[in-house]
Amino acid sequence: MKHLLSPLDLSGEELDRLLTLASDIAVCPGRYSECCKGRKLATLFYEPSTRTRLSFEAAMLNLGGSVLGFSSADSSSASKGESVADTIRVISCYADICAMRHPKEGAPLVASLNSSIPVINAGDGGHQHPTQTLTDLMTIKELKGSFDDLTIGLCGDLKFGRTVHSLIESLVRYKNVRFVLISPNELRVPGYIRDDVLKAGGHEFCEVEKLEDAIPDLDILYMTRVQRERFFNEEEYMRMKGFYILDNAKMELAKKDMIVLHPLPRVNEISVEVDKDPRAAYFKQVQFGVYVRMALILTLLEVELPC
Ligand code: NCD
Repeated sequence: MKHLLSPLDLSGEELDRLLTLASDIAVCPGRYSECCKGRKLATLFYEPSTRTRLSFEAAMLNLGGSVLGFSSADSSSASKGESVADTIRVISCYADICAMRHPKEGAPLVASLNSSIPVINAGDGGHQHPTQTLTDLMTIKELKGSFDDLTIGLCGDLKFGRTVHSLIESLVRYKNVRFVLISPNELRVPGYIRDDVLKAGGHEFCEVEKLEDAIPDLDILYMTRVQRERFFNEEEYMRMKGFYILDNAKMELAKKDMIVLHPLPRVNEISVEVDKDPRAAYFKQVQFGVYVRMALILTLLEVELPC
């Protein structure tokens, strides 16, 4: 049985197929509206979420299936001390597939080892967030046409931002992608991404601190929120929080066809004035997230597709 714990759980070919399916769903969603009739998705969210949980739920409902689950650890038996391994054994009796978000890195992996249904990692601590990456990839494919030869700037909290880690691991599979890592020294990408993925794979990347210096060269700017919940002290968070603010003045320095992505939620790192700029693609990205999750559910459940 197939799970999605890291973006690399899908081969390049499987990923291409999934993105093609997601694009077809975007064009004719009605064709897929009965594909998961009688199937159930469980959403097991031990950490706050708006987009990821609700887009999973919307995706399953769009496919004609049903959803069940919980949206905080407090409202589940985790608050009584139940282990993830036991919870997933139980959920396997109720649902056909599950999406799990957990504050501990590796919790969805533990779940997958004890599960008789496919487990999707919907974010594990500061580690990985593969379905946000599928969303990001679909957005790039739809808006830029291809992944090759792009210069992508990733800006903000590159240390704790799990979406950044998953996206880098996926984009290195394409040809001639250049990475500009824009962060304060304290929030640089972890060593396992810099050394084991970027350096070891011989990929072109640089680390800079100033967004203004980097922005003119970028085809994609991927902004991220400073991850308050992963900081050990509030003072440090307050110091980092206002480090980057993308506003119209900075957008003036960018290419006319650069796109701005953000996994959301935004705090203050993108000024609302940028929302009106046609290059701001972060709300379109949300819509693509539903289509790509529909494609993922169909793929993991091995549903026969309508011809
Ligand atoms: C991201 C996450 O949870 O990692 N949000 C999301 O799922 N779209 C990013 C964030 O919380 O900053």
